[in-house]
Amino acid sequence: MNIAVIGQGYVGLPLSIQFARSGATVLGLDIDNHKVDALNQGKSYIRHIDAATVAEQVKSGRFSASMDFRRIAEVAAVIICVPTPLNKNREPDISYIVNTGKTVAPHLQKGTLVVLESTTYPGTTDEDLREVLEKGSGLKAGTDFHLAFSPEREDPGNPSSVVATIPKVVGGFTPECLKRAMQLYGMAIKTLVPVSSCRVAEATKLLENTFRSVNIALVNELKVVYSAMGIDVWEVINAAKTKPFGFMPFYPGPGLGGHCIPIDPFYLTWKAREYGENTRFIELAGEINTAMPDYVVHRTTDALNDGKKSVNGSRILILGLAYKPDVDDDRESPSYVLMNKFKERGAEVAYYDPFVPIIRLTREHPHWAGMRSVVWNRETINGFDAVLIATNHKAVNYQELADWSACIIDSRNAMAGIKTKAGQVWKA
Ligand SMILES: NC(=O)c1ccc[n+]([C@@H]2O[C@H](COP(=O)([O-])OP(=O)(O)OC[C@H]3O[C@@H](n4cnc5c(N)ncnc54)[C@H](O)[C@@H]3O)[C@@H](O)[C@H]2O)c1
Repeated sequence: MNIAVIGQGYVGLPLSIQFARSGATVLGLDIDNHKVDALNQGKSYIRHIDAATVAEQVKSGRFSASMDFRRIAEVAAVIICVPTPLNKNREPDISYIVNTGKTVAPHLQKGTLVVLESTTYPGTTDEDLREVLEKGSGLKAGTDFHLAFSPEREDPGNPSSVVATIPKVVGGFTPECLKRAMQLYGMAIKTLVPVSSCRVAEATKLLENTFRSVNIALVNELKVVYSAMGIDVWEVINAAKTKPFGFMPFYPGPGLGGHCIPIDPFYLTWKAREYGENTRFIELAGEINTAMPDYVVHRTTDALNDGKKSVNGSRILILGLAYKPDVDDDRESPSYVLMNKFKERGAEVAYYDPFVPIIRLTREHPHWAGMRSVVWNRETINGFDAVLIATNHKAVNYQELADWSACIIDSRNAMAGIKTKAGQVWKA
């Protein structure tokens, strides 16, 4: 089977590789020529995706990347994995989906299946995407071509999270569309979960991400409350998670990061307004989670103050720029928010991240582009007035950190089990 995967990012690339491994011939389409060139040379630009695996599939002839969207005419199925960010007013920006639909439409053939995977609000597939596809192709969804939605469930950096074995939810525009989509994914994915419509599939993904956002907000709030009571929230969570039923551990942090959890719930909030409904849980969780960097700044201020220092004029090192451990993904990372806040207060800010040697240009924080990670040695680390652990990468030697830094602010409980001196570590 010939398929095209549009958007060769964190979601589209592993999916393409999985289909190629399963015997499909996969055309990876993207508008970024650097990515396309790298992939065709068998290179991976995502740390947790093994270059050898990409190279193997390129060599086998089952995977190639391209910027030529006319080749959509050659494939039986098109899977769309493009970004779905929020705009400046924190409203859904589905322009990537709409533009992709406009690009696909003129090349769409009768009988082709189009599946959207990007996280979005219910109605995107059967309203917004359908409209541009039908208008640009002159074909009718459900009659001339097939349309479906199937959300991605990627967990970057988790070695046991493998595309082939994560159950996949699939919803079709018509029963026949669902059947075609099930046939497609059945080639490459072990367990499929059919649902009655594209909207149910879209809503399922939003439930999953909202669930995480709300539960993280709960433990973030408890972190602040318990800290005031002199109780360590991490110890509490570790004790609570021994309950064999009815409890699932979530962990506090310096704020939400990544492409999904800080963004996706607000897709639902926006759509709910169209129906005159409010999403109070989502708003409250967002409020608590976005207040976390301020709490961490407050704790850092206390820690410095304890050593008779002020934030203004201090040298502060942010440890971990990626939004979660063991990945190189810095999108929406709270580390940037923390860096901004310390800079605004007159601190000299630097960062260390073994996976992000240099800061690339980001949409939200362009002023940090080009900054390089400091080197990891006693002299450098010792030169900072405070080190703030924002991400707990396993590759960092926390015992060395304890030996080299007098003031550590730990927002991830990374120093648990490390030999430290009294008053050296401030949980935040
Ligand atoms: N990263 C994750 O862990 C994750 C998990 C689940 C769901 N998702 C969702 O999957 C979608 C994609 O996320 P991602 O992390 O892969 O994003 P990404 O930024 O890593 O990749 C998107 C790719 O699409 C390309 N692109 C943008 N516009 C395009 C266009 N018009 N035509 C062709 N290519 C285009 C970009 O160059 C990029 O390579 C989003 O909706 C996201 O919410 C992401």
